Amino acid sequence: MPVLAAAPQDLRALNTLGLPARAAAFVAVDALAQLPGVSRLARQYASALVLGGGSNLVLPDEVDGLVIAARLPGVRRVGETDDAVLVEAAAGESWHGLVQWCVAQGLGGLENLALIPGTVGAAPVQNIGAYGLEVAERLVQVHAWDLAAAQAVVWPAGECGFAYRDSRFKQAGQGRWLITSVVLALPKAWAPRMEYPDLQRHAGLQDKPAAQVRPQDIFDAVCAVRRAKLPDPAVLGNAGSFFKNPVVADAQADALQQRFPEMPRYRVADGQSKLAAGWLIDRCGWKGRALGPVAMHERQALVMVNRGGASAADVLRLEAAVRADVLAGFGVSLEREPILAPGRY
Ligand code: EPU
Repeated sequence: MPVLAAAPQDLRALNTLGLPARAAAFVAVDALAQLPGVSRLARQYASALVLGGGSNLVLPDEVDGLVIAARLPGVRRVGETDDAVLVEAAAGESWHGLVQWCVAQGLGGLENLALIPGTVGAAPVQNIGAYGLEVAERLVQVHAWDLAAAQAVVWPAGECGFAYRDSRFKQAGQGRWLITSVVLALPKAWAPRMEYPDLQRHAGLQDKPAAQVRPQDIFDAVCAVRRAKLPDPAVLGNAGSFFKNPVVADAQADALQQRFPEMPRYRVADGQSKLAAGWLIDRCGWKGRALGPVAMHERQALVMVNRGGASAADVLRLEAAVRADVLAGFGVSLEREPILAPGRY
């Protein structure tokens, strides 16, 4: 195995916001045997950034430390239990490609997560979720490489700290773990998940009795709903939802609902409610509104888009403006959803 070396790399095409970033030190990994070498290399740098599809990232002009592109390939069935078929997918595979593969094999369970950009390895980091399903519900294990300790680790899903758009890999673990593969359990007794209002309203599902709905139907509906609302990063740079939906105390949600009876609100655990950040941003007048080269999307105010030529500074300026208006208008503090890569902003 030749010694791994880092090289400079232009990252503009490797982040879906299309920010003009550069890495002074970049290395791509496409085989597990390279990982000890990557750990040796990483020791020479103050930080590491593991790059998947670059679809949940804000990059500065110059990214500090070592940037490691995780490109490990492979998807296979690895066994079954009484209730589920087990599939292992390597980190570098496209997430949507994996969902498509499962549906084509007749394996249901991931179809609500169709068309989410990014790689398999990035999916557990922010616990991707959409249309009533989070990936944590299907994960059995996350296989990772501990870059600091230079050893492989297998995390049972229960120890991954999964929460709404969060995990141990996103928090303190950023730059420490390189996820190599995930093992998913796809239920043999599949039942469609279609409670989400956008799916209920979808023509292709509306008139079908639940017993006749197949994973392919949900897959098609999710793709259609996403295509109608969310900008395709290949056409208009974006990183999906730019803010998390805020969770507030029921008392605050009650008070807001008195003022705005039409405000969407979902009760979650422990006397708390989740609000729709997109609605709050929309109500502040930011839907479709630009600040310099960036804007909040005209069909989904939660998604920040790069209309061309934006830098990280533009992104953070719009973020601050939106946060300030939502705080002033509703007393709600929004939290950024994508990860900020190490560097100077
Ligand atoms: N809304 C508005 N105006 C807007 C956007 C939304 O009034 O501009 C309202 C909608 O009418 C709806 C509510 O806000 O009543 C929620 O909107 P939507 O159903 O579009 O979903 P969301 O809460 O904005 C979340 C996820 C998405 C995911 C969808 C579907 C987060 C941060 N975002 O968006 O995930 O696809 O639900 O499940 O949780 C992502 O994370 O990148 C992402 C796209």
